[in-house]
Amino acid sequence: SGADQQSSDGYFTHKGILFNSKVNVESLKNIENLAVKEDDVFVATYPRSGTTWTEEILCLIYNGGDVEKVKTTPIYTRIPYLEYQYFPEGQTEYDRFLELPSPRLGKTHLPYNMLPRQLQEGRGKLICVARNPKDVAVSYFYFHGINRSFRTPDSWDSFLSDFMAGNVVGGSIFNHVLGYWAHRSNPSLLFIKYEDMQKDLHGTVRKLADFVGRKLPSTTIDKIAEHCSFRSMSKNPMTNYSKHPEQRCRFDTTNSEFIRKGIVGDWKNHFTDIQNEAFNKVLEEKLSGTGLEYDFDI
Ligand code: A3P
Repeated sequence: SGADQQSSDGYFTHKGILFNSKVNVESLKNIENLAVKEDDVFVATYPRSGTTWTEEILCLIYNGGDVEKVKTTPIYTRIPYLEYQYFPEGQTEYDRFLELPSPRLGKTHLPYNMLPRQLQEGRGKLICVARNPKDVAVSYFYFHGINRSFRTPDSWDSFLSDFMAGNVVGGSIFNHVLGYWAHRSNPSLLFIKYEDMQKDLHGTVRKLADFVGRKLPSTTIDKIAEHCSFRSMSKNPMTNYSKHPEQRCRFDTTNSEFIRKGIVGDWKNHFTDIQNEAFNKVLEEKLSGTGLEYDFDI
């Protein structure tokens, strides 16, 4: 299959990164060789960093703020998740991406060095959304509880250890974010932070619109920001991953939701002092000297 190893639950590693069974190994190779078009835009994130939020904003930017239009299809239908294949007998998301009319939007959780080579060379546009790793850890822990193709963690403590060590699907958040951060001055890459979206959604929408070359009037930007508030997106079946039967197959939302809490600082409700100290030590080791800083509270 091309995977280095595969375990009974379908987890496998490829180029040193752990993936779950829904990631298609062929697609991983195809993605690297993708013929990128100049007007392609990719949203790249570590999981649980604000991907869906950014995707919804982009859809609205592209349709000029028509909130009725985005109500007809779920977000994952509008923007393929490049490395995924929801059902073994179904189409890969990569193939679905190829069939999209331009301008194409794609989503990926791949590390920078596994992106399409042409994208790395500056063709097309890339938006990286980063979120403070403590909140990502909490959000990802809950997400493991709802995603049926993920291993259920034994405990929050064991999950956090795995997360800090990078032994989770998607690999180390630190390596992931630093891979993108290293290229932040590339004009075809926009690096934004979840906490800044929280602080100034209007400003973030404008920044995204400018980046993809669609200048919008302030009233339209306000309308988009309103539609993309947590309150609105969390109860919107087109964005909260509850709409289609296949999503109910993917997720068991008995105990948590895909769009769950949407705040900065929820980590404080979960980290013990000991866990926080250990985490801070890893943060210091991984980030010192890189210039990358996070807001852990706003
Ligand atoms: P929480 O689990 O902390 O609530 P992704 O889309 O990358 O998987 O990220 C999911 C995280 O983004 C979840 O975090 C989710 O609630 C949050 N999120 C999604 N839409 C949001 C919005 N409109 N405002 C704030 N947070 C949002």
